[in-house]
Amino acid sequence: MEKKKVVVAITGASGAIYAKLLLQRLMDLQNQIEEVGVVMSDNAKQVWRFELGEEGFQDYPFRYYDKNDFMAPFASGSAKYDTMIIVPCSMGTLGRIASGISNDLTTRAADVILKERRKLILVARDTPLNLIHLNNMKAVTEAGGIICPAVPSFYSKPKTIEDVALTVVDRVLDLAGFNTNSYQWGKNQV
Ligand SMILES: Cc1cc2nc3c(=O)[nH]c(=O)nc-3n(C[C@H](O)[C@H](O)[C@H](O)COP(=O)(O)O)c2cc1C
Repeated sequence: MEKKKVVVAITGASGAIYAKLLLQRLMDLQNQIEEVGVVMSDNAKQVWRFELGEEGFQDYPFRYYDKNDFMAPFASGSAKYDTMIIVPCSMGTLGRIASGISNDLTTRAADVILKERRKLILVARDTPLNLIHLNNMKAVTEAGGIICPAVPSFYSKPKTIEDVALTVVDRVLDLAGFNTNSYQWGKNQV
């Protein structure tokens, strides 16, 4: 299996726990990874502090990029990053991607991933959804992106908040093409 070059973008939607658990899982999958680049919006940092009561978002063994760093490798298709995960993805970031407004590193990198026909996964988080959100999801899907809403499942009988959030994160990692030992219906049934 070829090692992956992954961009993780964290935006200011609720659900910083999803980003945190994804970064933790990626640490355990280092043998499948060549590079992880992380970029966060200002709102993402604020929501992380507010929801998780800590600010350890910079503490992971990955390369961090400023939100306006258009010199970052994945701002260009030539760097050949194969996967981008936006977790959680705000409706604002979704809308900017759907409209092609590449005014920061996250939206530029998403634009690049789509134009290069590589894998873009948006862990969209808001409820309920208005028609603008739905149309933006349709546009991104038509452009080749994957909308993977932050909607947990319960058939694995999760016991803790982390277990619940991991039902989303593990689904995202499966979509991204990682080999994980995540729950599979019909296999690990309890
Ligand atoms: C605590 C908190 C929770 C939020 N939750 C959401 C959310 O679930 N979905 C969403 O689209 N925006 C949410 N927002 C609003 C976004 O942070 C805001 O729209 C921001 O402009 C998004 O910018 P970004 O996409 O650059 O991070 C939340 C804001 C705060 C302070």
